[in-house]
Amino acid sequence: MLMTIELLTQKKGPKISKYLYGQFSEHLGHGIYGGIYVGENSDIPNVNGLRSDVIEALKAIHVPVVRWPGGLFADTYHWEDGIGPKDGRKKIVNTNWGGVTENNYFGTHEYFELLRQLGCDAYINANIGSGTVQEMAEWVEYMTMPGESPMAALRRKNGQEEPWCVKFFGIGNESWGGGGNMRPEYYADVYRQYQTFLPQYDKENPIYKVACGPSDDDYDWTEKVMKIAGKYLDSISLHFYTLPTGVWQDKGDATNFPESEWTSTMNRAKYMDELVTKHSTIMDHYDPEHKIDLIIDEWGTWYNVEKGTNRGFLIQQNTIRDAMVAAITLNIFHKHADRVYMANIAQMVNVLQAMIVTKDDRLIKTPTYYVFDMYQKHMEAQWVEGVGDVPENITYTASQKNGELTLSLANYDLHETKKIHFTASSSYRNIISAKGLFADKMDACNTFDHPDEVSEQPFDGVELNNNQMIVTLPAKSVVSITLK
Ligand code: AHR
Repeated sequence: MLMTIELLTQKKGPKISKYLYGQFSEHLGHGIYGGIYVGENSDIPNVNGLRSDVIEALKAIHVPVVRWPGGLFADTYHWEDGIGPKDGRKKIVNTNWGGVTENNYFGTHEYFELLRQLGCDAYINANIGSGTVQEMAEWVEYMTMPGESPMAALRRKNGQEEPWCVKFFGIGNESWGGGGNMRPEYYADVYRQYQTFLPQYDKENPIYKVACGPSDDDYDWTEKVMKIAGKYLDSISLHFYTLPTGVWQDKGDATNFPESEWTSTMNRAKYMDELVTKHSTIMDHYDPEHKIDLIIDEWGTWYNVEKGTNRGFLIQQNTIRDAMVAAITLNIFHKHADRVYMANIAQMVNVLQAMIVTKDDRLIKTPTYYVFDMYQKHMEAQWVEGVGDVPENITYTASQKNGELTLSLANYDLHETKKIHFTASSSYRNIISAKGLFADKMDACNTFDHPDEVSEQPFDGVELNNNQMIVTLPAKSVVSITLK
């Protein structure tokens, strides 16, 4: 029997923040060097050192925010190493990621140039693991002080007259682990101290603070940070990665995996719903009005590294399975849009569940990229609640904006086509667009020889009759449909 889901289009749902489509770029492998930044003298076409093909692809998906410089790297990063003439910049060792020499050619100015070219907002992660309160305060002064001050003068000397806008500011990263191995009580106090000295020059638009939150199901961390630092928080960030096996020593391979690892990956991705619900419930106790946001500033798949590559570079292939994880996760974030304000997939280029993979002067867009592309209409739209049983192995989300209804679905069943019946409380007469990602095998992916194996295709599986819709979804597909 055909199951019916009723979309409550007359009910006002929470707004889906565009920042849920945020990205994360760390000094890690080719995440920045080679992938985004090639330098002004490169043969690869670039503007001010940033490769033009990558910028063009990222602009097309309207990246709203990029978190930088890490990750674990952030707690070893000293911002003054990355300013001034390039030949004078300090060379350091990237101790977290491959032990490679970091020449600091991509620093604060280059980061803001990236944001300028993308037209997106800043999310800087400060070093509280090996830095100082003064170092953090001076970095913020350097970036955002509009008037006269020692750091503003240094910024101007380095060629930037006007202050930049720092929208989001992270105080620590994984402080429970590689960011300092702190206990929640201790971190909460450190957070209180650092945030006290975070300069806020624009009182009308204060910098939004992100506190280090828990890993996975560490509910005790959330409880204690909320309790001790709650009144100083704008948000708290959760990190959660999807590992097929759930075991860090052998996570499972990105391609050529057994069916059981497809299933475990889907289950692990769906677990995000429980994590967000439970952390949010703890937050409710201290913040019933939802003034403090939950941020998921690291999420995505994490597999064994591609054979023959540097283990510290976290290079992995991206397949239709990753597209499913992206769809499942984004749908969960939409559902929790009243609490989840930003999310940053790890990572934007060449690392983990990337949007883009580069090799010399070439680039491929991954299946995950296409999900982000198809989902764009959900950004800043109002979430629409659906009522009714959801068929097995189906995930969906709906939102409305400007009189249009966008419905995105994934069928993560490996073998069965699924038919789903939707009704809406408002009537829609036209299909404005319908597209999808389809695959014949579970590790279908794009390669430099076959870059369009998994790419957006027209979708003709929708029958619309006024406010009734039947969607026929092939196995292993993600689709997005917009109606008016
Ligand atoms: O995204 C890779 C790493 O994963 C980040 O540097 C760290 O924060 C997390 O453990």
